[in-house]
Amino acid sequence: MSANSGGARASWSGKWAFILAAAASAIGLGNLWRFPYLAAKYGGGVFLITYVVLVVTFGFTLMMLEAALGRKTGQSALGAFKSFGKKYAFIGIFTSAIPFIIVPYYCIIGGWVLKYAGAYLIDGSAALADGGTYFTNFIGGGGESFIWAIAFLLIVFAIVALGVKNGIERANRILMPVLLIMTAGICIYELTLPGAIDGLAYYLTPDFSKFSVELVIAALGQMFYSLSLAMGIMITYGSYVKPDVDLNRSIHQIEFFDTGVALLAGVMIVPAVYVFSGTEGMGAGPSLMFISLPKVFDAMGFAGTVVGVLFFVSAIFATLTSCISVLEAITANCMEIFHTSRKKTVLVLSVIYLAASAVIALGYSVFYFEVQLPNGSAAQLLDIMDYISNSVMMPLISLLSTILIGWVLKPQFIVEEMEKGSGKFTRKALYTVIIRYVAPIVMLILFLQSTGILA
Ligand code: TRP
Repeated sequence: MSANSGGARASWSGKWAFILAAAASAIGLGNLWRFPYLAAKYGGGVFLITYVVLVVTFGFTLMMLEAALGRKTGQSALGAFKSFGKKYAFIGIFTSAIPFIIVPYYCIIGGWVLKYAGAYLIDGSAALADGGTYFTNFIGGGGESFIWAIAFLLIVFAIVALGVKNGIERANRILMPVLLIMTAGICIYELTLPGAIDGLAYYLTPDFSKFSVELVIAALGQMFYSLSLAMGIMITYGSYVKPDVDLNRSIHQIEFFDTGVALLAGVMIVPAVYVFSGTEGMGAGPSLMFISLPKVFDAMGFAGTVVGVLFFVSAIFATLTSCISVLEAITANCMEIFHTSRKKTVLVLSVIYLAASAVIALGYSVFYFEVQLPNGSAAQLLDIMDYISNSVMMPLISLLSTILIGWVLKPQFIVEEMEKGSGKFTRKALYTVIIRYVAPIVMLILFLQSTGILA
């Protein structure tokens, strides 16, 4: 089928296809590098407990809101919000703007991950463990990192161009199980290393003295990022779900997979870093993945090359499937507005994205600059985009959509959708309280805090 423009809307082939796709979107670099880093920083078990509590309350409410909104309206973010009246259309516009900001930079990082998987295969672990010179030379080179980003983008575009069933479903069915097996394999190997059990204890034992408001904010931010909330992905994916699917259960399962992989990634990373570099080795974000971990892998001897390949291939899969989901959200929005075919839409988008990625890749060399963000940290181009999307736009969008659903349309609007089909809405009371009271207040605080208005 050339597309669903004009004709019948695309749909998942079944309930599991939806769960797998949503989980594939959620499981990404956030699980692999952000979660373990935060857990190590914020007292291990305390962070894990806080995170899980937030996921089953907040995360559940927000994810359900999006998926039910998508299925009920049968549209992507732009159309879904507009269907409540012209004056709400701007929420859809904000929501759909986020993927536009995120894709170019996620693809750059996707390119880095591709490069590293290749480098482990060809050069072995020793070449990459030089304390960061390899990495800074690579990203500062401009041209090379752009070429890897193009390669990454082309894979993503090709899969989305093939459509919901033939492209996205099929890719997820292969990539996700392999990702799980590889991650579990690395964990098992690492736990046999001497000292690993102490590292595991460091990761899991709650250090309650680390509990703070800052920890809760960090966990909340991670939850948004990890569950791919507030960017319209779940609205689009929800709109492909057939009416007889039990949304309530599906969302539990998605959260279970996403949190499970995050916990597993922690087991994969924290004890190993602890054994080989001590607690000092837990750098943040890119430096953990591209500088600290290569050192850890190298310390494993020959096994390090194997672990390095497996780790970066898992990271490719995780990054690919997340990127696919966000590109699908954009593609679906564009197809609905412009009534164009899927292939044509993807083609036009790829040209736009290649240009945008070029600018960001060059952000590390030709266009290098640094500014100070309202929250105090120094940032260059990639950080700025990350900041605008994750810290400013996402809390704002959640604030607006919870007010719309909780107060304008009333919570019952979503309840009806959840109880459709075979569904039983198990956390209805919790959902009502969160959507009307807790979420709007917390989102407002988060928004004010990250924009620096509330110091
Ligand atoms: N959920 C992804 C992760 O855990 C992050 C993410 C959220 C993302 N939204 C995205 C990645 C959109 C790519 C595109 O890594």
